[in-house]
Amino acid sequence: MTKRTYDQSFWEQLWSKTLREHADNVAERPPNAHLVGEVVNLHPGRALDAGCGHGADTLWLAAHGWQVTAVDFSASAVAHGRSMAEAVGTDVSERIVWVEGDLATWTAQPGHFDLVVCLYVHVAGSVEEMVRRIANRVAVGGTLFMVGHRPIDPTTGAATAAAGQVQVSVESAVAALDPRRWELVVAEERPRPVAGTGVDAVIRARRLS
Ligand SMILES: C[S@@+](CC[C@H](N)C(=O)[O-])C[C@H]1O[C@@H](n2cnc3c(N)ncnc32)[C@H](O)[C@@H]1O
Repeated sequence: MTKRTYDQSFWEQLWSKTLREHADNVAERPPNAHLVGEVVNLHPGRALDAGCGHGADTLWLAAHGWQVTAVDFSASAVAHGRSMAEAVGTDVSERIVWVEGDLATWTAQPGHFDLVVCLYVHVAGSVEEMVRRIANRVAVGGTLFMVGHRPIDPTTGAATAAAGQVQVSVESAVAALDPRRWELVVAEERPRPVAGTGVDAVIRARRLS
């Protein structure tokens, strides 16, 4: 069997088909439950949504006072997110900068963001290197929040929808984040909000220095 490549072309095709056929369903997707639970009490500042997809999390962050930079390499996903934000109103849309870009090459000033969110993004190379690169954008005192859908459901042993993808795991985040510079607030596997779809690795870390 040919191994699938989760590159820009894969995601652009998936998003353009999904948005063509099910735009209404996509528009109704709620923000990520882990994100809402972990971030709701943080003081809003500058946030990066790395691999923002359809933008539900970006919109939620902006509606809660964050100035958000939302990056994704799918032009269709970014266009959808932007139009959703405009439909909500200028209060929200003016707090968001949408960027069509590849996280592997997109550069931001190190330490620029009070919150960096990276949810369910497949990693093409080394996960630890990707965690470090994403984490490098967090300001001292700021928060890194990452979630990865695990490829195997630990309860049933069955492959999940993330089978074949490499996403962040608790082990890779622990290995990547230097304990002298990062306090791991949460690093655990949690059941996904939809029963029977496996578990998510949830990582929340605070930058100490
Ligand atoms: C499974 S979707 C998750 C979207 C969103 N974070 C969420 O939780 O709903 C993964 C997203 O990451 C984006 N992505 C994957 N690799 C990327 C990269 N190297 N640069 C930019 N975006 C990327 C894809 O286009 C896709 O929108």
